[in-house]
Amino acid sequence: MKVLLFGGAGYIGTHVALAFQKRGDTVGIYDNFSSGLRDNIIPGSVVYEGDILNKDQLKAALADGWDAVVHLAAFKAAGESMTRPEKYSLNNITGSLNLITECVSAGVKGFVLSSSAAIYGEPTYLPIDEEHPKNPENYYGYTKLAIERHLEWYDKLKDLRFAALRYFNAAGYDSNGDMMGLENSPANLIPVVMEAAVGKRDTLQIFGDDYDTKDGTGVRDYVHVTDLAEGHVMAVDYILANDESITVNLGSESGLSVLEILQESRKVSGREIPANFVGRRAGDPAKLVATSKKANDILGWYPKYSSLESIIKSTWDVYKKNFNL
Ligand code: UD1
Repeated sequence: MKVLLFGGAGYIGTHVALAFQKRGDTVGIYDNFSSGLRDNIIPGSVVYEGDILNKDQLKAALADGWDAVVHLAAFKAAGESMTRPEKYSLNNITGSLNLITECVSAGVKGFVLSSSAAIYGEPTYLPIDEEHPKNPENYYGYTKLAIERHLEWYDKLKDLRFAALRYFNAAGYDSNGDMMGLENSPANLIPVVMEAAVGKRDTLQIFGDDYDTKDGTGVRDYVHVTDLAEGHVMAVDYILANDESITVNLGSESGLSVLEILQESRKVSGREIPANFVGRRAGDPAKLVATSKKANDILGWYPKYSSLESIIKSTWDVYKKNFNL
């Protein structure tokens, strides 16, 4: 099969590329390299330097004939989306509409969207299933919900089959060390903890100690990026074989607190990792945990690498090597 990954040089995209390549598919990587890394591109991939806002570049890449596309080309900093919404509407919404319409023109049959648990907003019940109310708390989450809605229309009107994969908190690195690139200026918890561990930043700021959770810190559902990547392969196969669109959560179904992540990181790295409590971050729910039953039932997807140990160890290994420790 030929699969073209938009945003394929980013953190999740490179793991998705690896999963498709491992089973012998032809992989294309389309990226504007604003945050994606050239070093992450697996030899043998077809590479297009392009932007999803540039229709000519999109047409040229899609003209090479792809069975399916995976769309991971989005800005994803929830906090930034609240102060710079125009950046998110242009890239995430306008860019996605460009991509969807060009895929339809090019005759692409399957479209996998990197969606997010951020579309649900503050949970009204746990664990969160796909029917949970969708009230995004941040503009980033709204952009993902908007793209899902567009895909539902294109499924009906243009027979574009899609899989919307609602990731919970993507974490970890390929455990064989095949992906070594670090994200620039990360804002997510685990890379921030790692930067504090290697001394790249002074301290981890823990956003809030008074949530109604097991230890007062925020609880999230961390899912290993290799598990997510396998979910993309299964999703492409499913929508093409069944000629049917799907929307599924991909989460580990276990809730881990900020302090649990910190303690495990201290244990695995053997480093002190300075940390201090600060106030809550705006828009952060206390607890987000998925049920992935629908992905289990429809795709046969079960996380295999998403234990706390595996997530932290695989991440620390990559930081250790990058910082020559
Ligand atoms: C957010 C989005 C998620 C999105 C992801 C992509 C929401 C609700 N979630 O995840 O959908 O896919 O970003 O980047 O919009 N924390 C600290 N200190 C830090 C950083 C984080 O204490 O320096 C805490 C947070 O308060 C939270 C947990 O760690 O409790 C995880 O935060 P983070 O890694 O930023 O992910 P989310 O905000 O859950």
